[in-house]
Amino acid sequence: MTRTLAPDEAGLAEAARLLAVSELVAFPTETVYGLGGDARSDRAVARIYEAKGRPSFNPLIVHLPDLAAVERIALVGPKARALAAAFWPGPLTLVLPLRAGAGVSPLVTAGLETVAVRIPAHPLAQRLLMAFGGPLAAPSANPSGRVSPTRAGHVLEGLTGRIAAVLDGGPCAVGLESTILLADPEPVLLRPGGVPVEAVEALLGETVATGGDAGKPTSPGQLASHYAPEAAVRLEATEAREGELLVGFGAVKGRLTLSANGDLVEAAARLFDTLREADRLAGPDGRIAFAPVPETGLGRAINDRLRRAAAPRG
Ligand code: TXA
Ligand code: MG
Repeated sequence: MTRTLAPDEAGLAEAARLLAVSELVAFPTETVYGLGGDARSDRAVARIYEAKGRPSFNPLIVHLPDLAAVERIALVGPKARALAAAFWPGPLTLVLPLRAGAGVSPLVTAGLETVAVRIPAHPLAQRLLMAFGGPLAAPSANPSGRVSPTRAGHVLEGLTGRIAAVLDGGPCAVGLESTILLADPEPVLLRPGGVPVEAVEALLGETVATGGDAGKPTSPGQLASHYAPEAAVRLEATEAREGELLVGFGAVKGRLTLSANGDLVEAAARLFDTLREADRLAGPDGRIAFAPVPETGLGRAINDRLRRAAAPRG
């Protein structure tokens, strides 16, 4: 029922046609695959929540082709502008004040007066945005609470029959979701991700506070068992205990590894693939242990996802 579209002119034209009639099309970004729908269409956005089984208080990121398009729906303050110039297109999402009359469905912002926006760097995402010619609301293309997809096959595993199509652009380069920031007046990190917070601090010349008030819908991905595999997960493991599958990093060798060389970029790109593979190998009542990953650069985002994978299940 869900079609796989090739990454060529015909595939892009068909994806744009489906989006224009409020159908859902999953597409690759440099971070993870997004589940795209017309951000101006209540029907399309409602379908996104339905397809993901997502709690409706969790707002969505709007994907746009360039800064001019961002400025049509949001107010860009001075720090946001500096960050946009440095990191867009790329794995950064800015939470900005929504412009009056922006025409974005209130379902996208879940009634907030802010909107999360991002200009993706993936060439296919860019071409799709141009072909469609409008803002695309796109959460990660996985059922709510499950591991984010970094390949078209992952999207189909979770959502086949629930969406019209997936545009197949191969594996995602970054492999982790975007960094989410409030920029003005004071920068606040809402989710660590593909742009290391150190790079943001270096650019702005100030420290970035960490948000993430677990009770508030403004803090992304705070649901207890977000990114959960089927297996139980233990962190900071230096060896496998009885019955555990160890995922190594650097000097800690496991049956699988995030990066044998201790390379954080490689570990980020492989994270969700490795979670899926470990889950498959560990089996239904399996247990997975992860080697420690340093809490610097992309390591912060990797550890954030691993802690959620290990969190008690609701
Ligand atoms: O890399 C990514 O960001 C991917 C790709 C597809 O772009 N998208 C993604 O979307 O990770 P999603 O929906 O899985 O995560 C978006 C997060 C949500 O957890 C939500 O809480 C937060 O963004 N968010 C959206 N709008 C917000 C707002 N107005 N204020 C605060 N947080 C917001
Ligand atoms: Mg997600």
